[in-house]
Amino acid sequence: MANRSRFQAVRGTRDLLPPETALWNHVESTARKVFGTYNFGEIRTPEFEARDLFARSVGDETDIVSKEMYLFEIPLSDYLSYIEGIELSGIATTDATFVVLYFKFCVEASEELKKGRIPSSSNKELLEKFQSRREEIRSQLIDSHADLKDSLEFLRETIRKIDLGEQLALRPEGTASVCRAYIENSLQQLPQPVKLYYIGPMFRRERPQKGRYRQFYQIGAEVLGGQDSPAIDAEVIEMLMTFFDKLNLKGLELDINSIGHKDKTCRLGYIEKLREALLKISARFGEDSARRIATNPLRVLDSKAPNEQPLIETLPKITDYICDACKAHYEALKIQLRLRGILYRENWRLVRGLDYYMRTTFEITAKGLGSQNAVCGGGRYDGLVEELGGPPTKGIGFAIGEDRLILSLQEQAREAAEAQGTATEATNQSPLTAKQPPLIFIAWMGHNTYATAVRAAKDLRNAGFPVEVPPNELKFGKALGQADKLGAQFALILGENEVSEGMWTLKNLSDGAQVKLPEPELIDHLRNLGSTQRL
Ligand code: HAM
Repeated sequence: MANRSRFQAVRGTRDLLPPETALWNHVESTARKVFGTYNFGEIRTPEFEARDLFARSVGDETDIVSKEMYLFEIPLSDYLSYIEGIELSGIATTDATFVVLYFKFCVEASEELKKGRIPSSSNKELLEKFQSRREEIRSQLIDSHADLKDSLEFLRETIRKIDLGEQLALRPEGTASVCRAYIENSLQQLPQPVKLYYIGPMFRRERPQKGRYRQFYQIGAEVLGGQDSPAIDAEVIEMLMTFFDKLNLKGLELDINSIGHKDKTCRLGYIEKLREALLKISARFGEDSARRIATNPLRVLDSKAPNEQPLIETLPKITDYICDACKAHYEALKIQLRLRGILYRENWRLVRGLDYYMRTTFEITAKGLGSQNAVCGGGRYDGLVEELGGPPTKGIGFAIGEDRLILSLQEQAREAAEAQGTATEATNQSPLTAKQPPLIFIAWMGHNTYATAVRAAKDLRNAGFPVEVPPNELKFGKALGQADKLGAQFALILGENEVSEGMWTLKNLSDGAQVKLPEPELIDHLRNLGSTQRL
């Protein structure tokens, strides 16, 4: 029975444990290798950023920003809202009440400053001035005849100037951070385009379910600067497909679309047409879609409600309404994909849930994932860098959901094992993790052999073999039992005789075969076994 600790991983988060983590490492090192061959370099950005960065890029109205971000508390912001509420309501009218409220706020702000929780540069001088008048104001408050006008003005002015700092958020995605870093580090001065990839955790407060977590991992890539040639879009997609191919992940489907650009002659014109069409049949949509008709009609196209599918099929299609330049870009993209032998499906409903996209959008779905089957999403986002305060810059990229990718690989391994009739525990026995060198257990017996065991372990580890050495002497039978439990493939047996003769015994634990070897030959012997038989 599992131990129930007082603490558990927070809802929507989980621990990744060995041996599964070996699969994660394999996936990540494959990404690094494949992306490297396309001349991408790795970027690591912070895991939290200013909230506004995501509001500006992903979009204030999107689910990600409006509902799902993990926000850091801004010190004293509740107190400030409380004061503003009282000011507006007109409940409090006397100067003394306001002086008390403002005074208390300044005291608390001084504490926050001391703790380093509000910015020092903008607040230090201001709050020092407050401290210099603190006693004077306090005595005025005790004296019922004191004139508070001057102190009231001073305090009101002070709290108006106090800087509580920027609101921070755990990053829900990586593109915004990469664009911020591109601007901040003047990467536009490098030869363009700049090609970057990242691997790391993202955070979204979504309802957890299979393949959907609150902390999840993305492997993403972005191409910034240079041209917006469709060949770039196609090459990015080719890189993705090569990566999946190297992982031997089968049954993927690539959907593509073009959502044009934000302009009346293009997407905005389409949205109006879509809204008109939707309004005519709005009564037949469910609550969620009905709300979206008003707020963001494009999102209606994401609906999975079965009864809405035939209705959606009757709606105007975006690809018929985008401008000629966007149409030409889309046509050229398809030619480029065919040139590269990449199979795709056109999906006019693929509009994606982030605001920054324009023209190309794409998504890859995998098998075995249930409803959360999008394993990768991406698209073009020309103009985002400029929106964030940088120069006009083209951009395109994608992010793979690593958790989902791993689930899909495990599912595929399970199916393959079932098809072969082998009842392996597929999840952790993925073929991707099985190619490790064999574990060697050193069974040492006799006090004088321990030093030799330690030396042998060091040499074997240096040669790349995983080794277990029990810290205390074990009887022979117990040592072999322990080796078996740990899944060791070999036991290196070191008794007093072996050590004094310099002839060591290596026991293959799967078939019981034993060889005696001079110490210097051990490593070569193990290596030869590795090349002649599957260890
Ligand atoms: P996204 O579609 O929001 O795009 O996320 C990309 C992928 O991350 C999804 O296809 C999915 O596999 C995975 N994912 C998203 N949310 C979760 C979750 N809660 N649990 C597990 N996996 C999840 C972006 O994030 C864009 N930044 C992609 C991009 C990069 N576009 C251009 N460049």
